[in-house]
Amino acid sequence: VIRLAAVDKEECESVRRELNARSAVRRDRKIFERDGKVHIPITDSVDECTAEEIGFEIVLGESPPRSHHRAPMERILHEIEIPPDLNHLLPRKWELLGKVLVLRIPRGLRKHLDEVVSVYARVLGAKTVCEEVGTISGTFRTPSLRVLKGDTTATVHRENGILFKMDVARVMFSSGNIDERKRMGDLDCSGETVVDMFAGIGYFTLPLARHAGAERVIGCEINPVAAQYLKENARLNGVEDRVLVFNGDNRNLPMGRVADRVVMGYLGTTHEHLNKAISLLKEGGIIHYHETCGTDQMPDRPVQRITEAAGKRGCEILGVREVKSYAPAVSHVVVDARIPR
Ligand SMILES: C[S@@+](CC[C@H](N)C(=O)[O-])C[C@H]1O[C@@H](n2cnc3c(N)ncnc32)[C@H](O)[C@@H]1O
Repeated sequence: VIRLAAVDKEECESVRRELNARSAVRRDRKIFERDGKVHIPITDSVDECTAEEIGFEIVLGESPPRSHHRAPMERILHEIEIPPDLNHLLPRKWELLGKVLVLRIPRGLRKHLDEVVSVYARVLGAKTVCEEVGTISGTFRTPSLRVLKGDTTATVHRENGILFKMDVARVMFSSGNIDERKRMGDLDCSGETVVDMFAGIGYFTLPLARHAGAERVIGCEINPVAAQYLKENARLNGVEDRVLVFNGDNRNLPMGRVADRVVMGYLGTTHEHLNKAISLLKEGGIIHYHETCGTDQMPDRPVQRITEAAGKRGCEILGVREVKSYAPAVSHVVVDARIPR
């Protein structure tokens, strides 16, 4: 008999994350569902206070073991054959997009490159392995990768029931934005026209069309390669009748106040596009504005930028949230605001 957190199904993912952040989920036992509740095996460190704070009940019960389960890093360390004093150099973070693995390999591991690549590929189930050699750059957000194993960097990545087809070497995909992609999919956009000003391969367009039920999503994308994938992904996810792709600069979008909602999923110079975004919004429309912001300027700077751009049309801030940490003391934030007039 072990301790279990009993949670409603709708809450289970957020509770699991909260518990995970406190290293309180037992990895040796399975999460299971019974009597309409999800049961998460928890460690002894969780007390009643924490349970109340996060919002679940502690119950006692049995849970099948996960004896064969081993975290990937544990398996990598177990299987790799390199001098043990180099183990600390092995990458602890990576991006696995479909069957393509992207990682950074420190210089100290060069001599053992073949071994590193083959063990990571095997353990993580990747067909292609790429090394990140530079940063994501330019307006198109192009990655800088070198292929170390495999023939193709094209893949289909599945996330929250959405298929994202892409060429990992030609377009970016930030797995750190997963919660925001999910949040967009959880909105109720029935009957809405949404403009996704920086649509990429469909990061937000696809969950908005497929899960949030938007009537029409105008996905604007300046990079022809990404725009082509956006079209293909709309078809792949069965929403081609609701997704309209505009391949060009969003400042040239030819329409006026058509949008119930505008998504601005871009970083760096997003604020330069605020006037255009506001000009696309109907009265009462909502904007989801992203930017990178020093934690000391939060939430004043993004809020002020939106308020200024909205001018006489007014601006009601609905929420500010951190999408992810971007750099030390810099956050990627998203501000939701309503433009009432
Ligand atoms: C790659 S996405 C940002 C990442 C994304 N939010 C995620 O979840 O991974 C940004 C996209 O905006 C596009 N873009 C940049 N400037 C643009 C503009 N002026 N008009 C339309 N698209 C633009 C880029 O080509 C890029 O594909």
